[in-house]
Amino acid sequence: MKLLEPHVALDVHKGERPVPKPELMRRLADKTALICQLTQLVDAEVLAAGPQLRVVANVAVGTDNIDVQAATQRRIAVTNTPGVLDETVADFTWALLLAAARRVAEGDTLVRSGEWRGWDLLLLLGTDVFSKTLGLYGFGRIGRAVAARARGFRMRTLYYDPQRAPAEVEDELAARSVERETLLRESDFLSLHVPLMPETHHAIGAAELALMKPTAILINAARGPVVDEAALADALEKGIIAGAALDVFEKEPKVHPKLLKMKNVVLAPHLGSASVETRTRMAVMAAENVLAVLAGKRPPNLVNPEIYAGQPA
Ligand code: GLV
Repeated sequence: MKLLEPHVALDVHKGERPVPKPELMRRLADKTALICQLTQLVDAEVLAAGPQLRVVANVAVGTDNIDVQAATQRRIAVTNTPGVLDETVADFTWALLLAAARRVAEGDTLVRSGEWRGWDLLLLLGTDVFSKTLGLYGFGRIGRAVAARARGFRMRTLYYDPQRAPAEVEDELAARSVERETLLRESDFLSLHVPLMPETHHAIGAAELALMKPTAILINAARGPVVDEAALADALEKGIIAGAALDVFEKEPKVHPKLLKMKNVVLAPHLGSASVETRTRMAVMAAENVLAVLAGKRPPNLVNPEIYAGQPA
C-alpha cells in the first residue's frame, strides 16, 4: 500500500474475504486495477464488470482463480508472483513431510492432552526419512528447491515431469527423471509440485494411489484439486498408502470429513508461502506489476504476454 498510495487512489477491501461477487463487480465498475488473493474468483463475468480494468495482479504464483483467457480477450494483463516463494514453499513441503513421517502433530496433541506418560520404546513410532526415496511429481522451480533439500537427508530423488530438466540440473540436485508409473511405484514420499491445469486435475486418483507403496506418504503443497480427495480418503482408510500431509484441499476451506478424523494425515491451512519475508515480497511484486501497467509499461510478471502481441518485449 505504501508503494501504491503516492500513485493511485485505493479502494481497500477490509471486510470478509473473498469479496462477495456482486460487491466485487460493483466496486470494479470504475477501477483500472485489481490486486487479489487466490481465494478471489475472477471469472469472465467479474472481468466484464470492470470496463476500465487494465490489470489483475494475483498475490500468488498460481492463477487458477482467474479466467486468464477471458482477461486476454479483454486485453487485461494478468500478473502473478513467481520465483520469490519457491524456497519458502519448499521449506514448508519439508515441514509437512517430516511432520507426517515423524508424527509431529500427533505428538503435539498427546503432550497437550496431559495423557503423555513419559518416554516409551513404542511411543508414536514413525518412519525414517533419510536414505528413503523422494518422488517429485513436477520438477519446476519449487520441485527443484525441494530436491535440493533432499540431498541433506541423503535421499534418492526421482522426478516425473513431461519436460525433462537439463542434465546439469539433474546432476546438481542428484535427481533422476523417471516415468510417471515408476515414480508412483517407487516413492516412499511422493510430493506434488504441479500447477492446477485441466491436465493436472485429479492427477492423483484411485488408480495412481493403487500403484503406490502401502508405506508411502503423499505430500501436497501444490493445489487441492490435483488430488482426488475422496479417493485419497478411501486409500488411507483401506491402507493402500500409509499417510498424507496436505496444505491444500479441493474445496478450501472445506476438508473431506474423513481426512479430518485420520491421525495419519497432517493438515495445514494453505501456508506454503506464508513467511513474513515471502508474503511481503509477493505483495510488493503485485504492487509493482500494477504500477508498471498503469505507467504504460509491460509488467515484470505477466502471465498472458499475448496481450502485447506484436509489441517489442
Ligand atoms: C499459493 O498457493 C500461490 O499460488 O502462490
